[in-house]
Amino acid sequence: MADRLFIFDTTLRDGEQVPGCQLNTVEKIQVAKQLETLGVDVIEAGFPVSSPGDFNSVIEISKAVTWPVICALTRAVQKDIDVAAEALKYAKHKRIHTGIGTSDPHIRYKFNSTREEIIERAVAAVKYARRYVDDVEFYAEDAGRTDNRYLAQVIEAVIKAGATVVNIPDTTGYCLPEEYGAKIRYLMENVDGIHKAVISTHCHNDLGMATANTMSGVLAGARQVEVTINGIGERAGNTSLEEIAMIVKCHHDINIETNINTQKIYPTSRMVSSLMNMPVQPNKAIVGRNAFAHSSGIHQDGVLKNVQTYEIIDPKDVGIDDNAIVLTARSGRAALKHRLSVLGIEMEQPKLDKVYEDFLKLADKKKDITDDDILLLAGADRSLNHHIKLEYLQVTSGVGVRSVASLGLNISGEHFEAAATGNGPVDAAIKAVKQIIKRQMTLKEFTIQAISKGSDDVGKVHMQVEYDGQMYYGFGANTDIIAASVEAYIDCINKFKH
Ligand code: KIV
Ligand code: ZN
Repeated sequence: MADRLFIFDTTLRDGEQVPGCQLNTVEKIQVAKQLETLGVDVIEAGFPVSSPGDFNSVIEISKAVTWPVICALTRAVQKDIDVAAEALKYAKHKRIHTGIGTSDPHIRYKFNSTREEIIERAVAAVKYARRYVDDVEFYAEDAGRTDNRYLAQVIEAVIKAGATVVNIPDTTGYCLPEEYGAKIRYLMENVDGIHKAVISTHCHNDLGMATANTMSGVLAGARQVEVTINGIGERAGNTSLEEIAMIVKCHHDINIETNINTQKIYPTSRMVSSLMNMPVQPNKAIVGRNAFAHSSGIHQDGVLKNVQTYEIIDPKDVGIDDNAIVLTARSGRAALKHRLSVLGIEMEQPKLDKVYEDFLKLADKKKDITDDDILLLAGADRSLNHHIKLEYLQVTSGVGVRSVASLGLNISGEHFEAAATGNGPVDAAIKAVKQIIKRQMTLKEFTIQAISKGSDDVGKVHMQVEYDGQMYYGFGANTDIIAASVEAYIDCINKFKH
């Protein structure tokens, strides 16, 4: 019989730490329910002591989700553990994830402590967490750079103290696959009582080795993997769930299985990308736009003769269905509702009516409505709470002329108008916004992305604006890319703290 590999999804904790990717509680619930449908075993729902928003999200996710274990992160600090236990009170299956840095740089510079004292703190935290829950996971932060003999002592001590899962994070993404696998094997062979706990991998992608390291850990005996959808996460990200799920599915030879319903992978990837405004790179394994696109003549010829020549995964196995019904201006509410539900979004009638109305407007402008368009429409009410709204925008641009923009803003019910010239239409429009919003703000990053194909496509714009020493992230989507750019700029301003 195949060995079971547990999938611990940390999209809503490690993934959500990415600047600009923060979700509100409603969006987190939507992602959590989709993760449940996908079949993950554990959802790390947040770090409750870090903010009231995280605390509340853990509570609401605990109420909304039935099957997966809900996990809350803490430091090895009693207050954190108290708050996590409180946030988990509605979870049907709950886990506290506590831990401390174990590498010499962490012990010396972060804690100004000693190896012995760190073991004492780790043991105390695990014992304290066990007073609240039966399922306690311990993380040895920066285990990737921790001396193996010392790491084995820490892990042995926390298992004795009651840890049910031990997490061996390669926090900095430093390890080589062989080295990380050897570390897990060393623990398997040298920790007394190791079989009383599940060993978990948690790899970061700083050197592009997160997936390889995770698989190396699994081959050495780890039976839980900590992963995120689309591999999102701080810096270069975490191991991506879809890659591990498909590696395990494709390689029957390793005799390991997960509970993942792989056909839900693509819709989940689209949902997370859309809600977090985080584009997926086109050549991303499994879920990138080009992941199954054969472009060279030799490959196309081979695939046409027999797909097995160049395809190791049937795109349908990950939920990509080229024959899916295409939505157009003639599609009814039922077709839209069905597509939304395939994408993991259920909505009440009034919201569905509003999305359908917006859908018809968009379908008038473009021929085929894609899943990305639908996800955008479903999330369009994100700007409803904005106190600054774009009322109208007119721009002239062309070759050999200076661009002119005039626009109107509604600021908390009051109307303002301005006009400006600029070095191109976006520059002109932003200068006009700045005439109304007189703040010292600097545009730091500006990315325009057409979603898929066709000149009628919706353009997505991501912006980063610096104001008062802080960075703000904004997003806009429109078939008119100048309007999308202004929307993204205004989205940033709406987030200013004062
Ligand atoms: O990367 C890491 O070490 C972590 C821990 C907090 C689990 O995310
Ligand atoms: Zn991490």
